[in-house]
Amino acid sequence: MDHTIISESPEKTHELGRVLGGLLSAGDVICLNGDLGAGKTRFAQGVAMGLGIRENVTSPTFTLINEYSGRLPFYHMDVYRLGGPGDMADLGYEEYFYGPGVTLMEWAGLVEELLPRERLDIYIVADDGENQRKIQLLPRGERYEKLAWEMSNF
Ligand SMILES: Nc1ncnc2c1ncn2[C@@H]1O[C@H](COP(=O)(O)OP(=O)(O)OP(=O)(O)O)[C@@H](O)[C@H]1O
Ligand SMILES: [Mg+2]
Repeated sequence: MDHTIISESPEKTHELGRVLGGLLSAGDVICLNGDLGAGKTRFAQGVAMGLGIRENVTSPTFTLINEYSGRLPFYHMDVYRLGGPGDMADLGYEEYFYGPGVTLMEWAGLVEELLPRERLDIYIVADDGENQRKIQLLPRGERYEKLAWEMSNF
């Protein structure tokens, strides 16, 4: 099944994230991919809102990981500046993936070999015009099939 959603504004991308955030459960892993400026952080801010986080969510580009607490703990990672999978081990990433919260990782494709087999991959791709994006959901595993289906039918 194809789950491609068109977003025509940053607000729509945020709204899609918020819908996903409302559907998430402990242990869920969301992997975001897309070029610089695609809208990954916008989407992540929506997810945070959907998880009931009231704090201002900022890009963890330099800090690598920011933790928030909402309805569930939220671990927001950005691995763009990591040297590669080797450096990931130092982050203790497994504690996040298999912990009691929700993990969302920007630039996840850079550390593909370390990602859990079951996860929701999301690709945000430039589309027609400056503000349009194609948001493709690629669920890996049954749990994420359900999530993608719910999100795209919202
Ligand atoms: N449809 C859209 N969805 C999301 N962002 C959009 C859209 N249209 C325009 N934008 C703009 O694109 C930029 C997206 O920035 P954002 O920080 O979310 O990107 P990013 O993918 O996280 O980049 P980086 O790889 O640097 O972390 C924002 O300035 C936003 O206003
Ligand atoms: Mg970002």
